[in-house]
Amino acid sequence: MKITKIEIVTRPNKLEELKEALNAIGVLGMTVSQVYGCGLQKGHKEVYRGQSYDINLVPKIKVETVVCEVPVEKVLETAQKVLRTGKMGDGKIFVFELSDAVRIRTGHRGPEAIMDIPGEKPEG
Ligand SMILES: Nc1ncnc2c1ncn2[C@@H]1O[C@H](COP(=O)(O)OP(=O)(O)OP(=O)(O)O)[C@@H](O)[C@H]1O
Ligand SMILES: [Mg+2]
Repeated sequence: MKITKIEIVTRPNKLEELKEALNAIGVLGMTVSQVYGCGLQKGHKEVYRGQSYDINLVPKIKVETVVCEVPVEKVLETAQKVLRTGKMGDGKIFVFELSDAVRIRTGHRGPEAIMDIPGEKPEG
C-alpha cells in the first residue's frame, strides 16, 4: 500500500473548516504550521538601505497529512471544495510519495504506522 504525504498551503481563516472536512473523510493525523509565502504574484520587492526585502510574504497555514487508506483524490477534492474562493491566493496542494513512516511507540513501519490501531482509544 502506498503512503502519500499531502501538503496544503492556504489561507489561515480556512483552518477550522479544512480540519473538519478532512476529519469527515477519515484523515487521522495532521501537522499544522503557520508559515509565510508567496506564489505566482511573487511579492513586491522593496529596497531599503541597499538591501532587497519581500514585503508581500503573506501569512498562510500549511497542513501536512500522510495517508494510505484514504484515497489521495478524495483529499484533493475535499480540500479544493473547502478552499476555492476563485480569488488569487487560495493556495496550493503538493503531493509527495513517501518512502516510509515509523510509529515510535510500537515500532510499526509503513502503512501500519499510519493506520488506526483497532480497539485503541485515541489520545485525549
Ligand atoms: N511554487 C511554490 N513553491 C512553494 N510554495 C508555494 C509555491 N507556490 C505557492 N506556494 C505557497 O502557497 C501559498 C499560496 O500560493 P498562491 O495561492 O498565491 O499560489 P499562486 O500560484 O500565486 O496562485 P494564485 O494566482 O491563485 O494566487 C504561497 O503563499 C506559498 O506559501
Ligand atoms: Mg498567488
